[in-house]
Amino acid sequence: MTEGARLLVVHTWADLRPALRPGPRAVVMTMGALHQGHLDLVARAQQWRAAVGGQVVVTVFVNPLQFGPEEDFEAYPRTLEADVAALAGRGVDVVYAPSVVDLYPAGPPLVRLNPGPVGEVFEGAIRPGHFAGVLTVVHKLLGRTQPTVALFGQKDAQQLALVRQMVADLDLAVRIVAVPIRREADGLALSSRNRYLSAPQRTAALALPRAVAAGAAAAAAGAGVTTVRQAAWDALGNASSDGFETDYLEVVDPSDFTVLGQAWRGPALLIGAIRVGTTRLIDNAPLTITG
Ligand code: PAF
Repeated sequence: MTEGARLLVVHTWADLRPALRPGPRAVVMTMGALHQGHLDLVARAQQWRAAVGGQVVVTVFVNPLQFGPEEDFEAYPRTLEADVAALAGRGVDVVYAPSVVDLYPAGPPLVRLNPGPVGEVFEGAIRPGHFAGVLTVVHKLLGRTQPTVALFGQKDAQQLALVRQMVADLDLAVRIVAVPIRREADGLALSSRNRYLSAPQRTAALALPRAVAAGAAAAAAGAGVTTVRQAAWDALGNASSDGFETDYLEVVDPSDFTVLGQAWRGPALLIGAIRVGTTRLIDNAPLTITG
């Protein structure tokens, strides 16, 4: 356990418990390798605390349950010292950075949350078991940190939808707050995985935000679902010659991720995922379809 001026860093549930004061609490869950997108979540948590009082807790845990066997669990950046330094002075009271053994003392949990149909499409189809791993750890971290509100990034839109569904379906007493995507000046959504990209890959990656922005612009101009989807695909460019592979680019219902048809009017989400080399990138834009 280390204690700075105001920021307490704990690594075990035993040390976390006494650090939680009675009263309201905001929690930001992360896998570390913090960037400005995470710091936006923290800033939003701090705003909430300024209004309501209480504590802000940040969790840092690279959750093995949500990585597939071929994925980057081992290679995932672990930068706790820099993360704690980045959080200092931002109104965070406690950082809970448990080990795998602290979080899963009996080994990988036998009981896991079933994300249901929303967990089987798009990211869930490409990453089998991913959302079961996410919901299981989010449920455990909610249980351990006991927050009043938990803040999640809009960038992981399917994760956000599933966390909301879990909270509703399992009657969890926590309010989920979504925080908008933070982008680089050139439009690339911030991600801890962006650091894997070489300079040419970084350029290729811009196809995704370009596509998402084009679809959003079409929707804002009154286009219907089919035109929005087409505008996004047109802006994506030629994947094979431009150095990336497309996993999906689709207009969906933001609550259940079903694909929307041309007759749809109302809220929608344009979601996309590409692979640049071995790096997967996801992006999205909330839309209102009027046309
Ligand atoms: O979004 C993430 O960083 C992770 O999926 C989360 C919510 C911290 C669970 O491991």
